[in-house]
Amino acid sequence: MIDVVELKMVGPIGLVTINNPPANALSFAVVKGLDETIKRCMADAACQAVVVTGAGRMFVAGADIREFNLPKPDDVPELHDMIMGIEDSQKPVIAAINGLALGGGLELTMGCHYRLIAAAAQVGQPEVKLGFIPGAGGTQRLPRLAGIAVALDLILDGEPISARKALELGIADEIVEGDVVARAIVVAEEKAKTGQIRRTGSQIDKLGGWDAAKFAEARKKAAAMARGVEHYVAAVDCVEVAATMPFAEGLKIERATFVTLRDSDKAKAMRYMFFAEREVAKILDLPREIKGAVIKQAGVVGSGTMGGGIAMCFANAGVPVVLLDVSDEQIAVGMKKVQSTYASQVARGRLTQDAMDKRMALITPSTDFFSLNAADIVIEAVFEDMDLKKEIFKTLDAACKPDAVLASNTSSLDINEIARATRRADKVVGVHFFSPANVMKLVENVRTAKASKETVATVMNLSKALDKIGVLVGVGDGFVGNRMLHVARRIAEFMVEEGALPWQVDKVLVDYGFPMGVFAVNDLAGVDVGVSIRRGQKKLYEGRRHPVLMDKVFAMGRLGQKSKAGWYDYPEGSRAGVPSEAVEKMIFETSKELGLTRRAFSEDEILANYLTALANTGAHVLDEKLAIRGADIDVIWHYGYGFPRYRGGPMFHADLVGLDEVYETAAKLQRTYGDWMKPSPLLKFLADAGKKISEYTCPTSA
Ligand code: 3HC
Ligand code: NAI
Repeated sequence: MIDVVELKMVGPIGLVTINNPPANALSFAVVKGLDETIKRCMADAACQAVVVTGAGRMFVAGADIREFNLPKPDDVPELHDMIMGIEDSQKPVIAAINGLALGGGLELTMGCHYRLIAAAAQVGQPEVKLGFIPGAGGTQRLPRLAGIAVALDLILDGEPISARKALELGIADEIVEGDVVARAIVVAEEKAKTGQIRRTGSQIDKLGGWDAAKFAEARKKAAAMARGVEHYVAAVDCVEVAATMPFAEGLKIERATFVTLRDSDKAKAMRYMFFAEREVAKILDLPREIKGAVIKQAGVVGSGTMGGGIAMCFANAGVPVVLLDVSDEQIAVGMKKVQSTYASQVARGRLTQDAMDKRMALITPSTDFFSLNAADIVIEAVFEDMDLKKEIFKTLDAACKPDAVLASNTSSLDINEIARATRRADKVVGVHFFSPANVMKLVENVRTAKASKETVATVMNLSKALDKIGVLVGVGDGFVGNRMLHVARRIAEFMVEEGALPWQVDKVLVDYGFPMGVFAVNDLAGVDVGVSIRRGQKKLYEGRRHPVLMDKVFAMGRLGQKSKAGWYDYPEGSRAGVPSEAVEKMIFETSKELGLTRRAFSEDEILANYLTALANTGAHVLDEKLAIRGADIDVIWHYGYGFPRYRGGPMFHADLVGLDEVYETAAKLQRTYGDWMKPSPLLKFLADAGKKISEYTCPTSA
């Protein structure tokens, strides 16, 4: 076992190195080790000062998030007490920030008396991203070092800042271009000689200038930064305490606030997501030695909504891409759309003109399939038509180099069938991007029956290279995300047939934390698109009850936002829908036609039915081994459908509700809505075993 905290004497200086790979997180063992080591240095007459640093590329990435759900062993001090011990110590302690110092890592450095930082290092307080606030002095010490405004900015933003910025803001005392530890030892010797100790907690000169009104304003801004969570405002409260109360009192209040937030379901959901989105990259049956190909050149067939966006993803990542369409006119239209999307980013100051020019230069328009012959991967994004796709894959098989991967962006077609049109089924996969492809982080990478492990590795790596979250799924109707959405949307429509209203359902979902409700989303994507998907699915699900309202909205000529009327009315120039009287009238008439007596739906019932539909379908997906883990489904729902991060995803939510209850609700809904809601055997199995579906991994992978 390695020593997570090492002590080496360099002359009279105790060099304390935190060595807890991969992130030097402040685990129980590290906190205990630091506490004991620093105390040992203080007690040792031969040790005149201490330098604290991290081994490897990081200083300390923060408290150990993995241990947050575990009880702290009695012999381990609290992190904040250990840091207070450093600040109170009678010999100088110097932080040598060799790499990233985040969260508790930065807090540890602020408890030290001086901070030297390597030029490439960064510091930050990312706690807000995990649903809580800094809990080891960050809200009290940062304002003392950098002032209230800066502290609020850093704590509420959560992003790290550069060494230079840290110096400028007073967080670091010196930037070191060379060996930061060597320089820290020199400084430690100087401080030991002069007996100089500067304690952050005693500094108050930067705490002035803020009255109650200014903090009230800051609270308002913080509340607007994140809907549905409390910790942004709590962070402002704690910084206000720093400015108005004694340091020791401030630390106590911060600690109590941190503990309450850390133990909340919302924070638990956020740290679950932190690990879930890292876990998705791990494919269980993919041995490490299978590396997959690195994509140096790409091709995209079809320059429409998706193809253009996918080509932009390659260009954004610096990969040259040939974008192909059926004719000169079509490709010109596609290139123009790409150009105007970039131009609007430039106009909004999100991209420089120079960067745009470089990206445009990486996209080569073409109408000739043989221009794809150097591509390592070609992604097909033509119309959703099986015969057309098969034809294209046959052509690609002939035109592309033998080891090129051929991928389809289809959202619903059977990619195994597409693969059979080629002589390289082992190199055919799905890469299901979400719209707009250049913005949305999620890609469902679809593993076909014959895809080789090499091919799977290639597309998983590609997702990462394109700065996307790639989740491996299996071939099936709607893959994972859309399959779940389509069932839940049907349940939502059934509820409207029976008594709810679209805007009532949408409000429930938005209040829960979704960015939009299902009906508003349907208006955005196009009612016609929804109707066409439904038509395709009717054959798949013959004999089931089918909702009728979407067809009727379509028949009224209401196609959604694009026709300024869908489920909602869209008054001229507005993208926010208002309830439509015409649609409401149609809904009431339809209920009558269907022989349904309309009844009231409570918000709780709507939410429970919708989320049960998601979780139960997700469980079926796992039953069928179309996703690897329950957590993968939650990642898909967060990045593809805006499931609020602080809710953790439909599977995490199901665990909170209790799987036995979810199973019972599904069974009840099945009695009304038929087999859309057939309860999943996995739900029952896990409920009986007392296990969680968000922690479930399929015995064999997707
Ligand atoms: N606790 C436990 N494990 C951590 C960790 C942490 N704070 N930070 C990173 N890790 C682990 C990751 O889970 C991953 O483990 P794996 O290899 O087993 O999957 C490994 O370290 C490497 O992490 P990444 O894959 O994310 O590597 P990157 O180089 O892409 O990113 C990073 C490194 C920027 C440090 C990123 O991991 C990160 O943002 N970590 C979280 C930082 C954070 O939020 N710190 C605050 C913690 S809360 C806190 O300190 C409370 C305090 O105020 C009391
Ligand atoms: P689109 O209609 O915007 O674009 C299709 C493009 O393919 C057009 O530019 C067309 O000219 C081109 N094309 C047609 N036949 C061709 C041929 N033989 N050779 C070369 N190019 C040809 O369609 P969209 O929306 O981009 O969809 C493309 C694919 O992506 C479909 O399979 C769709 O199901 C899927 N998809 C769509 C999403 C969306 O939100 N639009 C989301 C995820 C997947």
